[in-house]
Formats: sequence, structure tokens, C-alpha cells
Amino acid sequence: MPVSKLLTKLHFAAPVIGPSLLACDFADLRHEIRQLEEAGARILHLDIMDGHFVPNISFGVPVVEAVRRSTELPLDVHLMLSEPARYVAAFRRAGADMITVHIEAVPDPRELLNEIRATGAVAGLSLNPPTPLYKVEDYLEYCDFVLVMSVMAGFGGQEFDPVALEKLSRLRKLAGPGFLLSVDGGINRQTVGRCAAAGADLLVAGSAVFSEDNYGQIITELKNLAELHKTTQV
Ligand code: DX5
Ligand code: ZN
Repeated sequence: MPVSKLLTKLHFAAPVIGPSLLACDFADLRHEIRQLEEAGARILHLDIMDGHFVPNISFGVPVVEAVRRSTELPLDVHLMLSEPARYVAAFRRAGADMITVHIEAVPDPRELLNEIRATGAVAGLSLNPPTPLYKVEDYLEYCDFVLVMSVMAGFGGQEFDPVALEKLSRLRKLAGPGFLLSVDGGINRQTVGRCAAAGADLLVAGSAVFSEDNYGQIITELKNLAELHKTTQV
């Protein structure tokens, strides 16, 4: 899907719940994806970890390719890698529609974000909870969205850090109403509304979705809670 079309789609569908496959049953990947499609998921979030930028290893290019063969949903690929520049082209070829890199790995990300855009993917810039917002502020024009981490990148199932809320609110003011904001980590029934109220459009949820038997019910519930809080904010 062309970048502008995907961004417009997400903008109009917001708030969107993005299931993170990190918490899925990888032994049954195709079935998990089918269930998420049937549950009304509009996008899938894929976490790539190298055991160096973060202390955990998840999966790589072949798994993204396999997911791509299993669905037409947009793939939001979150690179938690020390050297993301080496792998952007490969993940794009594998089927990534959105590619996010971390400011902590690439302190001046202008060239890399341009490269991501040049591949035809949506370019995202992410920051961990301890990283101050000013580190990304100068690069907003070089990216299509910011992914605010509400846990330290590396593991699913961690507790939400409210520092993300201040960052989302500030970014919403800085970047304006049309700019896509995403939040990732510890999103559940208790936190999703606060993130939507603070300005998040795309809310990534791993364990909150996969710990339930009925993905449709939890995705709808999270979406409704986000919608409610977003609406009451306006
Ligand atoms: C953490 C990942 C997240 C993770 C979220 O480094 O970036 O996408 O899957 O998992 P939960 O929703 O369980 O915090
Ligand atoms: Zn992620």
C-alpha cells in the first residue's frame, strides 16, 4: 500500500489497536494471524530484537516474510536493533509497510529516515521511556510518525510507564492534529484510554490481546475505550 494511502487510512481509522505478534503462539502463526483478521485487526505490529540494542532476541526477516505471505494487513515493523541501517532494505523486501528505528540507536536519524521513505515504507522514530523528548523533536519532519515507548524496549508484559503520556501530549501539540502518534508497551484496559486522551492514534498491544481467548472481544473493547477517551478529550 502506498505510504500516503496507509497514513490516511490510519488517520481516519484512529484510534487503531495494533496487536504485537511478540505474544502470539508462533507454533500456530498462520492461525493466529487469521484470528486477528477475523477479530478486526487493521494492522500487525512486529517486534525485531537483536540481543544487543535490547537484551532479548525475537525474530527476523524470514518470519516477517512468512507473516507477509499470510496476510494483506499492513505490517508495522519495530526495529530494536543497534544497526538498523543494515537491515532496512531487507525488512522492506520482506514486506514491511512501516519501519521504525530508535533514536537511541541512531542519534541523528535524518539519513536513515530518508532511506526508509525512499524504499516506499512509512518511516517511524521511536524513543524509550528514559529518553527525553527533545532528542526527537528536531526530526519530526523526517519521519511519518513517532512511536512512544511506554515500557523499556525489549520485552512484552511489562508495566506501563506514564512518562509516555506527557510525551504524547507534548508531541500532539508540537506536531499538530494530522501527525500519526503511536504508543507501545503495557497497553491494556487500564491504560489504553489515557494514551488515546493524550493523543495516541495507534496503540500497540501484545499481552493484553494474546492473554485473552477471544481476540475480537478484547480488540473491540480496547478500541472502544480508546474512542471514548479520545472523544471526551475533544
Ligand atoms: C516491547 C515491544 C512491544 C511489546 C508490547 O519491546 O516493542 O511491542 O510486544 O507488549 P505488551 O503489550 O505486552 O507490553
Ligand atoms: Zn514494539
